[in-house]
Parts: sequence; C-alpha cells; structure tokens
Amino acid sequence: MVGKKVHITCFGCQMNKLDSSLVASALKEAGFETTGSAADADAVLINTCSVRAHAEERVCSHLGHLKHIRKTRPDIVVAVMGCMAQRLGRRLLAHDAVDIVVGPGQIPKIPKMIADAIEGGGEQVAVSEKIRTAGSESETRMLDDFETAFDSDENHIKSQAFVRVMRGCNSFCTYCVVPYVRGPEISRRPDAIMEQIRKLADGGIKQITLLGQTVNSYKYAAGDKTYYLADLLEMANGIEAVKWIRFITSHPGKFDDSILHAMAGLDKVCPYLHIPAQSGSDRILKAMNRGYTASEYLDLLARTRRIVGDVAIAGDFIVGFPGEEPEDFQATVRLVEQACYKNIFVFKYSPRPGTHAVDKLDDSVPYDVKQERNRDLLEIQNRIAADYNKRFVGREVDVLVEGPSKKPHLNRADNENNPQLVGRTATDYIVVFNGPKSLAGTFTRVRITKATPLTLFAKLDGSSQ
Ligand code: 5AD
Ligand code: SF4
Repeated sequence: MVGKKVHITCFGCQMNKLDSSLVASALKEAGFETTGSAADADAVLINTCSVRAHAEERVCSHLGHLKHIRKTRPDIVVAVMGCMAQRLGRRLLAHDAVDIVVGPGQIPKIPKMIADAIEGGGEQVAVSEKIRTAGSESETRMLDDFETAFDSDENHIKSQAFVRVMRGCNSFCTYCVVPYVRGPEISRRPDAIMEQIRKLADGGIKQITLLGQTVNSYKYAAGDKTYYLADLLEMANGIEAVKWIRFITSHPGKFDDSILHAMAGLDKVCPYLHIPAQSGSDRILKAMNRGYTASEYLDLLARTRRIVGDVAIAGDFIVGFPGEEPEDFQATVRLVEQACYKNIFVFKYSPRPGTHAVDKLDDSVPYDVKQERNRDLLEIQNRIAADYNKRFVGREVDVLVEGPSKKPHLNRADNENNPQLVGRTATDYIVVFNGPKSLAGTFTRVRITKATPLTLFAKLDGSSQ
C-alpha cells in the first residue's frame, strides 16, 4: 500500500505498546506511512484496553471523534485492535466508526486487513473464538515470528526495548478481564527470545525489559530441560551488548527464589521488582483469588531484601473491591507502611463484564469512598517515599538517559544546549537533570541534589559511556 497513511493510537499497558509498535513496523514494511494526524490518514488504528471501564470509555470517546471525521472523510478506514476488540468482537462493528476488529492473538493479519478495507473490502473481524484454548502450534509460531521479525530499535525509547517472554494469564484474579481477552499463559521459546534480544542489542539496545502478565511463571519445556525466568535472566546476562535487564510484572503467589538469586548474582539484572499486592486484607485477597496472605507477601519482600540487598519494590493496589470494609482498607494501609515501596499504583475497583467478581459480588463500595481510599493510600505512600528518598541526596548514581523531559517546568533548562533530561537508575527511580541532548541513550553518572516522593533531581558531574 505505497503512499497510504495510517494513524495509530494506543491505550493501556506495556503489552499494548509493544503490540502497537510491532504492528507499526509491519505496516511500514507493507508500504504504509505513519502520520500523527487522524484527519490526514487513510486508516486509523486504535489499540484498546479493557482492564477498567474508564479505559474503554476513553476508546469510545475517541471513536466518537472519528465518527465526526468520517462525516467529511467517509472513506477513512477505522480498525480497533487489542483487549476491547477481543472482548466485544463483532459487536464493535455496530459502532458507526468501526470497520475492522482484531484481537491481540491475530495482530499479524492487520496490514492485509487494512489494505483490503482501503480497497473497498468492507467490514472484517479477526478475534480468537475460543480464547481460553491455546491456539494451534502454527498460530503460536506465527505470533512468535511476527514478534521477532518486526521488533526493532526504532520502536523504543533510545537504547531500551521490551521483549515479550509470555502471553496470557492463568491466574483468574476475580476482578480481572485479562485471562478472558489475552487467553491462557503461553511461554515463548527461549531461543526465539534470545535471538530477538541479540538482534536488538546489535541495533544499539542496552536495556531489555522482559514482559509477561505473570512474568515469574515463565516456563518452557524443551527436551530434558525446563527453562524458567531465572534461566532467561542468565542467558540474557551473557549477551555482551546488553547492560541492564528488568522484568515485569511478577505475581507474589508463584514467586520462586531462583529469581531472587539471579537478581543477586547476575550483574546486569536490575534490583527492581514490580510485584502487586492488590490488598493488605486476607479476607479481600481471598475474595480476589490472589493465592497468598498479607504476611506471606511481606515475607517475600523480606526474603527479597535479604537475598538481593538494596532493591526497589513497586506495587499495585485496588481500593474499593466488593465488600472492602474500613478495617480491610486499614490492613492495606498497614501493608503499605511496612512494605517500603519505591512507588505504588492505586486503582479504584472497576467491575468488568464476564469476570467472577461482577457475576458473584456486589460493587458495594460507593465511588466517593473508593476515591477517598485511593487518595489516602497515595498520600501515605508519598509521605513514606519523601522520607525514604532523602537518603539519596548527595549520592552519585548511574542513570540510563531516556531523553528530554516532557515536564521541563520541574527543573528549568540551563540554556538551549542543556535542556532538562530524564533518566532512570537501575532501581527504576526517575532522575531529572540538565545536560546535552546527546546523552539520550547513554549511561551517565549524576549527583542527586534533591529528592521528592516520585522524582530525584540531580546535577551532571561525571562521565558518560
Ligand atoms: N479494577 C481496578 N483495577 C484493576 N486492575 C486489574 N483489574 C482491575 C479492575 N477490574 C489493576 C490491578 C493490576 C493493574 C494492571 O490493574 O491492580 O495489577
Ligand atoms: Fe489479571 Fe491477576 Fe492475571 Fe494480573 S495475575 S493479569 S491481575 S488475572
């Protein structure tokens, strides 16, 4: 489709961002150009998220905008991909603005489907019919090949790349739609993963983040040997050009200490763990089907700190889960006070169609109570982090520089040649400092001058490599 333009919008998590970038590369290979403006495009592709109602509402308002554009551009093709496409399937075609619906397991088909629609092919749907049944071997291979072929360093922040090690989820937390839209857990072949990492490293990538919905349950049997996440970390650690390795997101219920030993023993594996607790109340954790108690969770954090030493831990929490009483929320507050997180993400419970919680439990906590708990929990975490982060002031740290800051008002540039840059430490702290743009993608040593709950401010006074 030479000369045709596609506009891509992405909602949702890192998995979606990765899918969008793979599809963008595949479209480019098929001759399409990408454009920053929907009004200017021949086709618009929206990657969607279903994890909370709010994410779906944002997609709907985007579709409303496209319906408006269609009044003057009736020929523009609109394709919806991702979790919402899988959840609603053909029903999405009822929307005036939608021509194509593609689930996450069918993304290699997108370039052809868009090309057909531009040529007048009409409405098309490609979703996985039996989402909880693993696809055939050839389907899995098709997704894997697509992943390896279309991942390139252009898709990422300079020097950084995300590499999927598994798809889907088998945990069935009662509130969560992911198992119903992303299907069962399927771990990718270790050799395909390593081939992809080597290719990215050859293209200049220095930091690799291994992605999985429950990345610590990675498991792949090949002949006599079964590969686990710790094996992947060890293999990736051996790739010369890769300097930092991370993995997200971990599930506390299935966490094997071999991962902690890999983190402690392998020099490139960053001491950072994103491990959602979701609640600190055992009663609520049980209703969520999380498979651990608050004290088991805290024991895991203690073990992590014992084995790895200085490690940064991030968590997710849901407030206002059905039946969450004030004492349950207080248990969550106590857990946050004990866990010493680097940061937390807090979400208000959102009932999702098709999940166990929506079928069996009443969304009993009023919205304003959810909002209050959300605010209170963040405030408590901010207080803890403000105090904890003071210890960084005066220290020298190495950061991998991402590039110019998107919020330069926080720490104005020295001058045009020294704009405000953002980097991250191995422990994933955001560090803001003034320096030349050419540092983007390099490891740079900076000295911390000020600490706030979420951001460290620094001065450049070391070497870069
Ligand atoms: N409502 C609110 N938050 C949710 N999450 C997942 N499902 C829901 C839901 N129905 C949160 C969890 C998860 C994060 C990605 O989104 O905290 O870790
Ligand atoms: Fe959803 Fe739970 Fe799976 Fe995470 S582990 S994707 S919260 S079902």
